[in-house]
Amino acid sequence: MSESPKSYKAPTGMPDILPEDMPAWLRLENAVRRLFPLYGYREIRTPLCEETQLFSRSVGEATDIVEKQMYTFSGGENEKSLTLRPEMTASVVRALIEHQLFKQKTMQKFFYIGPMFRKERPQKGRFRQFYQLGIEAFGSQDPLIDAETVMLFQHLLMDLGLSRFGIRLNSIGCMTCRGSYRDTLKQAMQSRLKTFCPDCKRRYERNPFRVLDCKVETCVQARVDLPRITDHLCAACRDHFDSVRKALDQNSVPYQVDPFLVRGLDYYTRTVYEVTSDLLGSQDSLGGGGRYDALVRELDGPDMGAVGFAAGMERLIMVMQQQEGSSVQSGSASDFYIVTIGAEQRPEAFRMLAELRRAGLSGDLDYEGRSVKAQMREGTRSGARFAVILGSDEVSRKVVKVKNMIDGVEVEVARDKMVETIKERR
Ligand code: HAM
Repeated sequence: MSESPKSYKAPTGMPDILPEDMPAWLRLENAVRRLFPLYGYREIRTPLCEETQLFSRSVGEATDIVEKQMYTFSGGENEKSLTLRPEMTASVVRALIEHQLFKQKTMQKFFYIGPMFRKERPQKGRFRQFYQLGIEAFGSQDPLIDAETVMLFQHLLMDLGLSRFGIRLNSIGCMTCRGSYRDTLKQAMQSRLKTFCPDCKRRYERNPFRVLDCKVETCVQARVDLPRITDHLCAACRDHFDSVRKALDQNSVPYQVDPFLVRGLDYYTRTVYEVTSDLLGSQDSLGGGGRYDALVRELDGPDMGAVGFAAGMERLIMVMQQQEGSSVQSGSASDFYIVTIGAEQRPEAFRMLAELRRAGLSGDLDYEGRSVKAQMREGTRSGARFAVILGSDEVSRKVVKVKNMIDGVEVEVARDKMVETIKERR
């Protein structure tokens, strides 16, 4: 029995990125590829999935990501369970350890661009497949590296022409000071537990720090006078935090200390930060990151300091488009469109097309047997800068006509000067 016709749609929360959208994406990717190497970061690409355990061990069993957002599937008979990566930090750490990259040199800096997957409820700015750009720096506990990552984030935003953003900064301490703060926090919460939302009541046992950045209004009210981690840091963590702040101050980076900032992933130690924009609506986080000095060791690598951030690319593009209005071009212009008067000129036109493209010029010709008028129309529609027009007379005299599609001025040039003319005038 044949199935009834069905129109397929992209999976929920996994949008297509259409050619019209690409100029903004490429602008962002090019900015990353140009800027990040200036700070010593090298690109890394890892598989879209990893062993499930890698994420549960690093991101944390009691996080929303591991508890309910992972796309997990069988790796095959007698193979380990696999999960589509919800983030890249764990994968980069895995690659660092697997390939012993830390043996090449102790300080290693990586950047990445790629899709991540989280089974979230889709809404504006929140997807199930989304792209992140990010960095991870390994091999130093120096607070200057923390500051450098924040400054690189800021540099990227400035390069993209973005100004409507804010940086929130906090220190969540190390394993030692966090342990005693955890007890202090739980004690303070205990007497007012009923005022917290059901999620926070659950978090109280397994992950009380998450209560600090719950968005539910009653929880926001209930936590105002809860003890703050910044008042419970050990001396070494306090010094570290002071040094990060000093470096940012000395470099005129504006930020706000937010003692309630905790992150949704468990691997952080000491510095954490988030960059937000009021142009985004409720999902206002452009990106976030921080230090994670214990993770490499926990995943059976050496003891080494680490810090990094990731930014959501759809969100960056939303802000770019809002700030710039229509100036992010949709659809790219090309250099030329070849118009032939008759079919006999097509072999010569095809040779010209190859020659123009080999010279680094972009353009096309008609493959649909259209009239001269329709070819000219197509040239205009494609956004070509010049029409290169070829009839039998031009072929016999070894010339072409080059028409400027903006001012309409047409010149005749020798066939062997065609590339040069277009390059000079475009
Ligand atoms: P994260 O805060 O989970 O951190 O994600 C970073 C950014 O990815 C968010 O601020 C947001 O812009 C974007 N993002 C997250 N989830 C979604 C979603 N469902 N839809 C659209 N955008 C989203 C991390 O992933 C850490 N690995 C960052 C890091 C790197 N920390 C240290 N190194």
